[in-house]
Amino acid sequence: MNKLDSALVASAIKDAGFALTEKVKDADVVLINTCSVRQHAEDRVLSHLGHLKHAKRTRPGLVVGVIGCMAQRLGAELLDHDAVDIVCGPAQIPQIPDLVKRALEDKTKLLSVTENIRQKTQATAANNELRTMNSLDDFELAYDSSRSYIPSQAFVRAMRGCNNFCSYCVVPYVRGPEVSRPAGQVIEQIKKLAADGVKQITLLGQTINSYNYPAGDKTYRLADLLEMADEVDGIRWIRFITSYPVGFDEAILRATADLPKVCPYLHIPAQSGSDRILKAMNRRYTASEYLDLLAKAREIVPGIAIAGDFIVGFSGETDADFAATVELVKKAKYKNCFIFKYSPRPGTRADAKLADTVPAEVKRQRNIELLEVQNIISGEYNKCFLGQELEVLVEGPSKKPHLDRASHAGQGQLVGRTATDYIVVFNGPESLAGQFTKVEITKVSPLTLFGRLVS
Ligand code: 5AD
Ligand code: SF4
Repeated sequence: MNKLDSALVASAIKDAGFALTEKVKDADVVLINTCSVRQHAEDRVLSHLGHLKHAKRTRPGLVVGVIGCMAQRLGAELLDHDAVDIVCGPAQIPQIPDLVKRALEDKTKLLSVTENIRQKTQATAANNELRTMNSLDDFELAYDSSRSYIPSQAFVRAMRGCNNFCSYCVVPYVRGPEVSRPAGQVIEQIKKLAADGVKQITLLGQTINSYNYPAGDKTYRLADLLEMADEVDGIRWIRFITSYPVGFDEAILRATADLPKVCPYLHIPAQSGSDRILKAMNRRYTASEYLDLLAKAREIVPGIAIAGDFIVGFSGETDADFAATVELVKKAKYKNCFIFKYSPRPGTRADAKLADTVPAEVKRQRNIELLEVQNIISGEYNKCFLGQELEVLVEGPSKKPHLDRASHAGQGQLVGRTATDYIVVFNGPESLAGQFTKVEITKVSPLTLFGRLVS
């Protein structure tokens, strides 16, 4: 979501006559897009702001804007920071070019966030009448979300917000209630992106499987959206993230199996393997129901790659609870997992009602242990690819050079991804960025496949 918002803001600000620069020292305006999901993300922003406060001593004209979830969460409090001129919530990003111009001209501090974010609407079609929401939709259609970090790929928001209220999570309070965008508008955007050369689109939603847009006597669900997107000429691969394990319609799996462009990949966080902890997290499923869903996904979509998220060290998590998480990870056989240490978030139910009982060191240990369990599983999957030819969409030059020099001497290292989201590193010309190509896998590590360009 944040990558999409950053791409849209970058595109809008360019359209307004600004030139983009990578370095603070070259900039008249610095915009920081922020995440509030964990304290660590907010700490990094505060540290950037500390540096910017120093920079402003010698460059008083420098304008600093904080946008995104942290802006929405802290609002006026953030505006009080010496370094900050603009505070703009995620729903207000269409105003960014104006806010920046005003800040440059008037040297005043500017705040634009949603008041009473949860009271604004209910998750019905009526939402779509909302002005801020509409202007966000217009913003999305008007600007170029393909200007993202990967050539020929674009994020397309299908819905925003969340109504799940997992007890640890700040998202419902900063992104607001769930609102699905009109299906026609989403498809119109995909067509436009395809005409601009985009080959892969990723439909975005906090709980993308609950996409729901009533129009007349038809209600569009995610499976319908996938079917419509599959028909757009020029689009080769379609992904959707992130799924919530409750209300996961079998039609989504059937669409994934039947539609040629829909990638056989599912990101479906479990968060914990302990039913007691899942209850405290307000996740509304048990570990065994979750595993049943994975089994169904594998039955309907053979070869589907499944990824998960886990939080370790949630309030009250005992050794036995953690052992249940390890068990779940072993049984789930994920392609990969994202593992996070629990970070209490102000305003959430867990923060208000449950003590952060697990010491930092224990969280760290559990994180390492779970990652080790997963790495063995990932390594097993990776081994199966040795000698196989895989089709990848090339993302661009590898950011950190891999140490595997023997098979990669010579040309620059490129990174690509398979339809199932495996990362493949191989040598090739940079001009391949944004193209589909075939790579023969010659070597594997637990996290990466290495190979040789075939075509
Ligand atoms: N602490 C740690 N991890 C969190 N996540 C969400 N909220 C928190 C929190 N308070 C994780 C979940 C989610 C991912 C995006 O971030 O695993 O799926
Ligand atoms: Fe947060 Fe839960 Fe919504 Fe995901 S489903 S965004 S974890 S509240």
